[in-house]
Amino acid sequence: MKGIVLAGGLGTRLSPLTRITNKHLLPVFDKPMIYYPLQMLVNAGIKDIMVVTGGNNSGDFLRLLQNGREFGLNELHYGYQQGEGGIADALRLAKNFAKNDKICVVLGDNIIEKNILGPARAFQRQKKGAKIMLKAVPEPRHYGVPELRGDRVVGIEEKPRRPKTSFAVVGIYFYDARVFDVIETIKPSRRGELEITDVNNAYIRRGQMSYDILDGWWADAGSSIQGLFEANQFVAQYGANHA
Ligand code: G1P
Repeated sequence: MKGIVLAGGLGTRLSPLTRITNKHLLPVFDKPMIYYPLQMLVNAGIKDIMVVTGGNNSGDFLRLLQNGREFGLNELHYGYQQGEGGIADALRLAKNFAKNDKICVVLGDNIIEKNILGPARAFQRQKKGAKIMLKAVPEPRHYGVPELRGDRVVGIEEKPRRPKTSFAVVGIYFYDARVFDVIETIKPSRRGELEITDVNNAYIRRGQMSYDILDGWWADAGSSIQGLFEANQFVAQYGANHA
């Protein structure tokens, strides 16, 4: 399985912190934000990794991460997203890198307490389709929110006014190689972006989506100043990416 960290976007929700840099380069306790999702992939045994970035500060990622030696890697792959086409548009750039492998996609601002070894192994065994991770949160309306029926997820609503469950869809996704064909079938949302939630709903409609509940704390560090603050607190108090 290959790993992809998505680290584009303008980060307007964190302005003015993001006026002169990319939000994924901001500090979370003692490391730049992007260190955490990268370490998460490495801890799951995923060593073939691509970082997709964009905007004016993309060169800084190369200078910061270099060839990934700090993470025990020999090389890192990089992609550049032109414009603001959304998460699924950024993922498109990983098509040639992924070839026919399964992939684990992590949003560059998602930080977790523990690890995704269990779900990664389960997805290796899953014949086809996709897997998402869910986490119960106090304010699900800020996220993608699943509708559940029995042990199945039957739909996801992006930032709904009236959430159907108290779960958020975490920014960690497992896909088979067909995800790149799925992306080509979806249309831009009202905010003009290709939404990852629409990709996930396409898998749900095909009956090919599984889910796991994420263990330990989860922080969406780039969603708001509050989210960034909480991520700092969590990491300082409890540490992140535990085995
Ligand atoms: C994105 C996804 C959302 C998901 C969240 C997790 O939202 O669209 O479904 O719950 O990441 O971090 P964003 O934070 O980019 O608005």
